[in-house]
Amino acid sequence: MSTLRLLVFPATMDSAIPFVRTARSLGFEIVGASSVSTAPAIDELDDRVHLPFVSEAGFDHAFEAALSTHRITHVLAPHHVVWSHLNGLRRRLAAPFFLCSPHPFAGHWAAFSPSLEWAARQAPDAFPRSLAQSPRGLAPALTESQLAGLHRSFLHTPGETDEDKLAALYTISRLAPAGDVVEIGSLYGRSAQALSWLAGHYRIGATLCVDPWTVSEKSDQGPAARLVNEEAAHLDFEQIFRNFLATAASTPGTSYIRALSDDAIARYRESADSGSLHADGLDPVPVTGRIALLHIDGNHRYDCVRADIRNWTPHLADYGWLMLDDYVWSFGDGPRRAGDELLSGGDFDYAFVLSDTLFLRRAPAART
Ligand SMILES: C[S@@+](CC[C@H](N)C(=O)[O-])C[C@H]1O[C@@H](n2cnc3c(N)ncnc32)[C@H](O)[C@@H]1O
Repeated sequence: MSTLRLLVFPATMDSAIPFVRTARSLGFEIVGASSVSTAPAIDELDDRVHLPFVSEAGFDHAFEAALSTHRITHVLAPHHVVWSHLNGLRRRLAAPFFLCSPHPFAGHWAAFSPSLEWAARQAPDAFPRSLAQSPRGLAPALTESQLAGLHRSFLHTPGETDEDKLAALYTISRLAPAGDVVEIGSLYGRSAQALSWLAGHYRIGATLCVDPWTVSEKSDQGPAARLVNEEAAHLDFEQIFRNFLATAASTPGTSYIRALSDDAIARYRESADSGSLHADGLDPVPVTGRIALLHIDGNHRYDCVRADIRNWTPHLADYGWLMLDDYVWSFGDGPRRAGDELLSGGDFDYAFVLSDTLFLRRAPAART
């Protein structure tokens, strides 16, 4: 039996679930307390206890008795009124207990304020203005609230893209021509969701996510990526896909082709010919065959990155942006080698590296 015992009151609030998961992984036993007969929001409680409502006269006494009976060391109070009452009570009780987490509303602010701080850091316009602009010009900046909302939903989507890259996605979306947004390699949809939100806001076009959401003999990313290859074999891609699909479904204008990028190019061209793509579980989206933003984040083996560039960049529009993810990568040099070849050619008039990604802009006259 663990000596660490967490009492959660009220155990009916879903906001307690992430904290309880962490506490359990740290070895806590979890005791759920409630004043109602509703099922607790937390699964697999080690014990349950009934307490009066916090507003009832007998609450303090019953709470103190529960602490002693269940040998409680820590208390989590996800309801703000309960938290405030227990915060006062713990100073008056003879036996101390540790009240976990700040006031729930202070917790909400702590979770949200980094999004406002990120939004404030996006204010300077100098970088996008310094670039030669497409015929569409530079689209207006987002408001602080729009930026904070974008950042918050980005953080809530699991994935492998960081907030510096989000800043770059925002900047190039303001400069992008109209056309399709194509992402090769979406996983849970973190970068895809951000691209899709930006493409919707700036009326760039629909976002098409290309990913097989499975592991096959074609998933091998090369010898330097041995650890990545081994890890991928243990992932449940069906779960990942269902999670992605819910994200895509809540960002209008998003669709997907569930295939390796080599195979998906034919489907993309067919969709461009017919003018739309209709994937299971999502609404149809328009497809133009002209790519405004192309994010290559699939198999990072050199020959695979090269194949993605060869197959997909002929569709890249003038002033369109190509992004090679993991240009800076610790498991191989495929994106770097492929990216350096592009840098030494004449097809792109502007390039920069931000986070781990190489961003290249298609020069208007270049056609491969
Ligand atoms: C690094 S993750 C993508 C991360 C994602 N862009 C994000 O922001 O979190 C790589 C994804 O590429 C997919 N993938 C691997 N090989 C691929 C290929 N040949 N074509 C398309 N997707 C591929 C994998 O299934 C995986 O979901």
